[in-house]
Amino acid sequence: MRLMREIRCFATDGNATCQNSWAGSSERDAVAPFWVLRAVIDGPVAPQTGYLCDIKEIDAVLRTEVLPQLVAEKSAELGLAALASRLVGAASTAAAQLPSPTKLLSLELSLSPYTKLAISTGALQMIELTHAYEFSAAHRLSCKDLSDEENRRIFGKCSNPNGHGHNYVLEVTVTGPLDEATGTVTDLGHLDRIVRELVVEPFDHKHLNVELAEFATLNPTVENIALVVWNRLVDALDRCRLAKVRVWETPKTYAEYSGSG
Ligand code: NI
Repeated sequence: MRLMREIRCFATDGNATCQNSWAGSSERDAVAPFWVLRAVIDGPVAPQTGYLCDIKEIDAVLRTEVLPQLVAEKSAELGLAALASRLVGAASTAAAQLPSPTKLLSLELSLSPYTKLAISTGALQMIELTHAYEFSAAHRLSCKDLSDEENRRIFGKCSNPNGHGHNYVLEVTVTGPLDEATGTVTDLGHLDRIVRELVVEPFDHKHLNVELAEFATLNPTVENIALVVWNRLVDALDRCRLAKVRVWETPKTYAEYSGSG
C-alpha cells in the first residue's frame, strides 16, 4: 500500500508547531515563499488500526527532522541547485526517521504552482525537476478517411469542422544526477529556453491541425500532443534527460508520456 502525506510551510520558517492548514502560519511578521512538501510512503496496513502509518507521525518527522534541512535564512540559499542538494540529505533523513516498517518512496518539494523538485529513495542522487508551461491552441479531432458523420459519431463536438480551443498546461519533467557546480538538472533557465523555443512559441495561439507539421496527418488528441511534445524535446535537452511530459487539456484530462508505451 502507498500513502502520500503533505505538509505546508514557509520557505524561511521551519516552524514545527504550525497548523497544517492551507496557508500554514508563520511566527514572523513577513510573507515568505510558500512550499508544499510531499512524502510518498509504502508499507503494510496494520490490521487493527487500518493505518499504513499515523499521519501525525509522518508530520512530526517532516516538520521536525526534514524541514529544518530545507528552509533557509538567506534568499541566496533558495536557489534551485542549493535546494536540490539539501533535498538529497532531507530524503535520507526522512527515510531513516519514518517509523518502521514504512518505507519512503519519494520526497517532493513544490516551490510554486509551476516548479517542483523530487527525489526517489531508489535513486538518491537523481533529482527530478518539473516545470509547468501554458499555451492556448485550437484543434479539430477527425480521421481523414472517415465521413463527417462518422467523425461526429466518434469525436462528437470535438470534430467541429472549424475547430475549437483549449488552454493547455504542459508539465515537463527532467532528471539527472545532482551537480551543484554546473546546476545541470536544476538549470531552469536552460529548460525554459528549450521548451519555449520548441513547444510554447510554436504551439501558442495556433490551429494545431493547420500550423504544426506533425498534425498535418496526425490527429491532435491530447495523447498525440504529448507524444509530439516528447519528440520535440527528447534530443534537444542536452544537459539533462527528459523523464516525462504531461499535457493537461482540461483540468479533468491529461495525457502523460515517458518514452515508451
Ligand atoms: Ni478539444
